[in-house]
This record gives sequence, C-alpha cells and structure tokens, in this order.
Amino acid sequence: MTRFVDSGPIPMRRGKREQPPAVEHPENNLSRYTDVYSKEVMDHFSNPRNVGVIENPDGSGEVGNPVCGDMMKITILVEDDVITDIKFQTLGCGAAIATSSITTEMAKGKSLKEAMKITRDAVAENLGGLPPNKMHCSNLAADALQKAIEDYLKRQGRDIKNEKV
Ligand code: FES
Repeated sequence: MTRFVDSGPIPMRRGKREQPPAVEHPENNLSRYTDVYSKEVMDHFSNPRNVGVIENPDGSGEVGNPVCGDMMKITILVEDDVITDIKFQTLGCGAAIATSSITTEMAKGKSLKEAMKITRDAVAENLGGLPPNKMHCSNLAADALQKAIEDYLKRQGRDIKNEKV
C-alpha cells in the first residue's frame, strides 16, 4: 500500500524574481586607466586607426615580443617611395594597439626615408608617453614598420643599407 506524506502546500512563485544589482565589468570601465595612460593612448586604444591587412601589399613586416608573446603585423602600399596606405593587425595588449594605431598614422603619406626615422621612442612620445613597464609595447609597431619597409626594398631589389640616411 502506498503511503502519502503531506508536506504542506507547494510554494508558488509570486511576481518577478528580484534581479541582483548590475555590476559593471572591470574591462568596460576604462576611466580607471586614465591615471596610468595618456588621453592619446586611450583614444587610439578605444578607436584604433588603420586596422586590418592590405591584400597584396608592397611590403609586409611581422614581429613578436619574446617577453609577452604578443604579435604584430604591418602591411604597406608604396607609390613613388611614399607609403600611400598602411594597416596593422596585432595580437597584443592595449598599449600595443595604441602604439600600432599611432605608428600607422605617423607613417601614412611619409616617404620611405622619413618613415625609416620613426623610432620606438618617437612612437611613445607621440602618444604622450607610456608607463615604463609598457615601453616595450611600442617596439612592436615601430619594428614591424621597419620590417615592412625592408621587405618592400628587398622586393624592389634595393639594399636597405643604401637607403638609410
Ligand atoms: Fe605585449 Fe604590450 S604586453 S605588447
């Protein structure tokens, strides 16, 4: 014989369940980084320019940072020794994104000789500086640009040593 145990009424759901208060994800709250990074860094990080890869580029440079493992690729189009278009793709930190973005802006429209003078320090300076522990991030963009220029010259059968001023 089956025995039934009366455990009282089944609790009913009443109305909507109360939602927990919204918590902002720390990654979405960029304002806390403005003490560390300049407004130029924040601008280029939030709105990076010249992102992507140029199909059939005239030159391409790729570098990696052995310390953090980040990667950077820059592709260029060149006409009459002037960089007419440039794009970057990075697997890197926020500082790497910002430095790549400004590097492409600094190089676009410049002659190869002028672009060869874009150094790691010049990139950081144009961003209003970088925290010391992020200076290495500016190396990626500047080095990838130099490699892309070298690649272009090599494809043209020109010697990089004769091109440097
Ligand atoms: Fe790797 Fe910035 S931490 S490039």
